[in-house]
Amino acid sequence: MVEHAEHAERPAYPVGLRLAGRRVVVIGGGQVAQRRLPALIAAGADITLVSPSATPSVEAMAEAGEIAWTRRRYQDGDLDGAWYVLVATPDPAANSAASAEAEHTRTWCVRSDDAEAATAWTPATGRSEGVTVAVLTGKDPRRSAAVRDAIVEGLRDGSLASPHHRTRAPFVALVGGGPGDPDLITVRGRRLLAEADVVIADRLGPRDLLDELPPHVEVIDAAKIPYGRFMAQEAINNALVEHAKAGRSVVRLKGGDPFVFGRGMEEAQALAEAGIACTVVPGISSSISVPGAAGIPVTHRGVAHEFTVVSGHVAPDDPRSLVDWASLAKLRGTLVILMGVDKIGAIAEALVSHGKAPDTPMALIQEGTTASQRRVDATLATVAERVRSEDVRPPAVIVIGDVVALGTTQK
Ligand SMILES: C[S@@+](CC[C@H](N)C(=O)[O-])C[C@H]1O[C@@H](n2cnc3c(N)ncnc32)[C@H](O)[C@@H]1O
Repeated sequence: MVEHAEHAERPAYPVGLRLAGRRVVVIGGGQVAQRRLPALIAAGADITLVSPSATPSVEAMAEAGEIAWTRRRYQDGDLDGAWYVLVATPDPAANSAASAEAEHTRTWCVRSDDAEAATAWTPATGRSEGVTVAVLTGKDPRRSAAVRDAIVEGLRDGSLASPHHRTRAPFVALVGGGPGDPDLITVRGRRLLAEADVVIADRLGPRDLLDELPPHVEVIDAAKIPYGRFMAQEAINNALVEHAKAGRSVVRLKGGDPFVFGRGMEEAQALAEAGIACTVVPGISSSISVPGAAGIPVTHRGVAHEFTVVSGHVAPDDPRSLVDWASLAKLRGTLVILMGVDKIGAIAEALVSHGKAPDTPMALIQEGTTASQRRVDATLATVAERVRSEDVRPPAVIVIGDVVALGTTQK
């Protein structure tokens, strides 16, 4: 290896190894192996680990049959037939011996303890939508990781691969935008948003993300589609179908999760009837995240082993109500009510009349996860008055149950 020292400053030659079915030997079962093994397993390599011990995660890979494990120290000859070897034991002498064998057998060898002595370096890698990013910066793995993160994030949120260079076919996606904070949309949702030609957005959800869209993107405010109130959903469905048929990529951006009181399935069905396939991207529902943002866990060990999410948009005595308030009053867990501000007085009365304690703690969280978030606490007995005196307005998530009393205030 001494004769190679003059080459040390030369850049490495990047290559993608196709390891499926090929023998790879990993010497040492510690943290380095734990970090590298998942990618080797994903590549389909035929992996043998040689190590007297292993971390619990590496052990689990052996138990699952993902790797073969030879439980002893490295011995000369272990690299027989290997295409690639990773040497990462805590014993420098063993590492040197293994890498000497690799040199002798002309097997590319990564060494965790001595980059100079290695014949191969592991790049910082990441994947997004079929693109593998691999970054090498010589001797600065932190910088490699930082560059990798920046590229992968740019690919994921669409800011790097500009929509103008898109090769993807037009798509229609129902995207759950989360409760309001623009950081609480999923990575996939954000990327699709960046690739859309048309965005049909709700009043709720991450409105701030719309500001980031390039000027050519047509943003349609679903609340302002000019039809009568009861026609609104049909008009949204029609707009989705029309734009999709015109070959545009359409994102229907919805608050929270598309399938939690979001009429997402009606839109998916309307598209299916028109012969248009759509992707559904789940979102963080306000029913869990808004209480959480106000410091209220919907479950807590020893306090609540269940939570139930109901719509409060029709009063309990309304014949259209599909909610069994009498049964809900008997549950011990947490009750989360969406769309319930207007009817909360009648709802609280119904719960108490069916046996729920009037002093059951509850909280209303208005505009959760946004800059205007506020929390108003009450009990079933006081809530109607509290909502009036505090002027609580929709959108608000209402949480009823002992978990309310546990909360810590969050930033
Ligand atoms: C039509 S539902 C849609 C729910 C949404 N699909 C979800 O998963 O969060 C609208 C209701 O969700 C609740 N909501 C949504 N976002 C909210 C937020 N940021 N703060 C408080 N409540 C919210 C309110 O109860 C509102 O009336």
